[in-house]
Parts: sequence; structure tokens; C-alpha cells
Amino acid sequence: MKIPFVDLQRQYQQHKTEIDQAIHQVLDQSNYIGGASIPLFEEQFAKQCGTKHCIGVANGTDAIYITLKMLGIGEGDEVITSACSWIATSETISQTGAKPVFVDIGEDYLIDVDKIESKINANTKAIIPVHLYGQMADMNAIKKIADKNDLIVIEDSAQAHLADREGLSVGEVSKAATFSFYPGKNLGAYGDAGGIVTNDYQLTEKCRQFANHGQLVKHQHKIEGINSRLDTIQAAILSVKLKYLSEWTSQRRKIAKQYSEVLKDVRGLRLPIVNSNSNPVYHLYVVSAENREGLQNYLKSNEISTAIHYPTPLPFLDCYQDLNHKVEDFPVAHAESSKILSLPIFPEMTTKEVDYVCESVRHFYDSH
Ligand SMILES: Cc1ncc(COP(=O)(O)O)c(C=O)c1O
Repeated sequence: MKIPFVDLQRQYQQHKTEIDQAIHQVLDQSNYIGGASIPLFEEQFAKQCGTKHCIGVANGTDAIYITLKMLGIGEGDEVITSACSWIATSETISQTGAKPVFVDIGEDYLIDVDKIESKINANTKAIIPVHLYGQMADMNAIKKIADKNDLIVIEDSAQAHLADREGLSVGEVSKAATFSFYPGKNLGAYGDAGGIVTNDYQLTEKCRQFANHGQLVKHQHKIEGINSRLDTIQAAILSVKLKYLSEWTSQRRKIAKQYSEVLKDVRGLRLPIVNSNSNPVYHLYVVSAENREGLQNYLKSNEISTAIHYPTPLPFLDCYQDLNHKVEDFPVAHAESSKILSLPIFPEMTTKEVDYVCESVRHFYDSH
């Protein structure tokens, strides 16, 4: 049985009529930039997140960059973030002129809140927790630290649409939460797309202005900005797909439950740690595997695709060599980077397919 890591085609086929219709509507109107689908999607997504505002932008990377810039982060500032994320989280900090300051993770792969305060100094301006793999970081604890030290919090929620923890939803207690709608994300467009949600009206207007060449009204450039607009076709597709997001999230949780039940006593494998009162949305299902290379190769030989998110923790990437990070500063991130393996998960994956992956994983450890 051939198991892809993600299969976007299945989802498209299931909703083809509706999606094609939405695309054709934009084609008929030919309003490709700034069309009516954009404010409609922004309103729907903000409502779904429980926030007052949403600003659609070109991708999840720009969503972080724009938010940081519009909150005044720049040269001489430091921004604390997790040692484990996609590079977008830290490269955008650097792009503002600020310095990314990394904090090790816990065994749940999320920023270790007990290690944040030791990294705060007079230059620290913000914390960007990352809700990695779809599980929310400890926002209650992070908010307390931020309030005590007068820091801004921006949630990198690229992998965590609709996640919640301890009664808090993504974007509820922070200044802003940023999202990616990259095609493979839990809510994915058919190209690049991103969004920022916030309850702050002024920040909303600033982000909107900066993302559109510094103008809110055509030809009135109050500041210099960038071109990072959500395009009309993507917004139209996202509005259709948003209707199914809860259902897809339930499917992801069901698949994760099946993995966790069937694989729970496999020696050599540590399953994802779910914090109490946390409802992850399983953008990824990541196990910590002994002999990961062997397992990955074995699964590959059985036509099961897997991936590694991410092979090198951010502090140890070549681009941060000048920051002189040491392995002992990030022991968990370092140890886990040679063990983590993402198993296939997508809402349309069948019970039979999950069973086949589980059987294959079990067989590998039984025979090695
Ligand atoms: C945690 C995280 N942050 C930010 C991004 C950036 O999003 P995009 O690819 O839409 O620019 C991603 C996308 O992979 C991500 O996983």
C-alpha cells in the first residue's frame, strides 16, 4: 500500500465543485487584487479564531515580519523564540534588524517556559512562542512572564489553526497571532497565503497599510511599505475550505488517536506528549524514534512517506553560526533532532492506511 505524507488531491476531489465555482467567480469578476473575497474571508477567519480582526497577507512568513515591524521591533532589540521551528520564525526577527534569542524546548517540543526568563534583558522586546506541530505552547505561563517584564507576545500559529489549551484559543491573550495558509497546512490555500489575527484595531490598520505599500487609500502612501497582499483567488478558496476546517481537525485528531493507541507500547518509540487540558490540531504527528534512519528507510521501502520537521534546530543552522550557540545550551532540541520523525497525517487518510503505517512501524521494531 502506498502512503503519501500528505495528499492534497483527495481533498480537492472531494470539494472540487465548490472550489472550482469559487475560483470561477473570481475569474468572471477578474478582480484578482483586492477583490471582495478578501474582506469576506478575513471576517470569517477572525470570527473562527474569536478575534476582532484578521489581515490577509501573502504568506505566513510575511505575517510574522509585518506584525513585528508594525509593533516597532527593530535594530538593537531582542526577540525570544523557540529553538525548534521553521526558519520563518527567526529569519523575520532578523529581517527587522532585531536579534533572535533562542530558548530550548521541553519534551512536548514546545518552548520551555521555565527557561525563558533567564534570556530576558534590557533589550528584550517580545516573545514569539511557536505552536509547533499543532499543539499550543503554555500561553498562560508565557503571558505571565510577558506581563511581568513588559514584553509583547506574538503567537506563531502557522501549524495550529483552531488549537486550544487550558481554555485559551490561539490569539486570545497575545498581541497578535500569525498564520500560514501554505497548501499543506491545516487550512491551506492553492498557493502561498497567510494571515494575522488581533484584537487591536490600530495594529490592524498599521499592518494593512504596511502590507499594501504603505497605503490604506490608493496613492496616499503614509509610510513606505511592502507588497504582501492576500490574493483574491486564494481568499475565495480559503473561504470554501474554512467551512470544513473543524471537520478536518476532528479527522486529524481521530488519526492521531489511532496512532497513539496502536503504537503505545512499541519499544524504541516515544509518542507525542499532549499537555493536560490541551487540544492539539495535529498538523503533524511526530514520534521520537530510536534508530530513526533505520525506521525511515524501512517505511520508505514499504512505500510509506515520512518527513523530519526539522532536521536542525534553529540555533545550529549555518546562518546562525555567528551567534556561537553551544549544544549544552539546547540539550533537548539537540537530542530530539536526531530522533524526531513525522508520520503521515492528513484528514482524508483512511483507518486502513493508518493501520498499515502502525503495522509497519511495529514490525520494524519487533525485527530489530
Ligand atoms: C512554524 C511556522 N512558522 C512560519 C511559517 C511560514 O509560513 P509560510 O510558508 O506561509 O511563509 C511556517 C511554514 O512552514 C511554519 O511552519
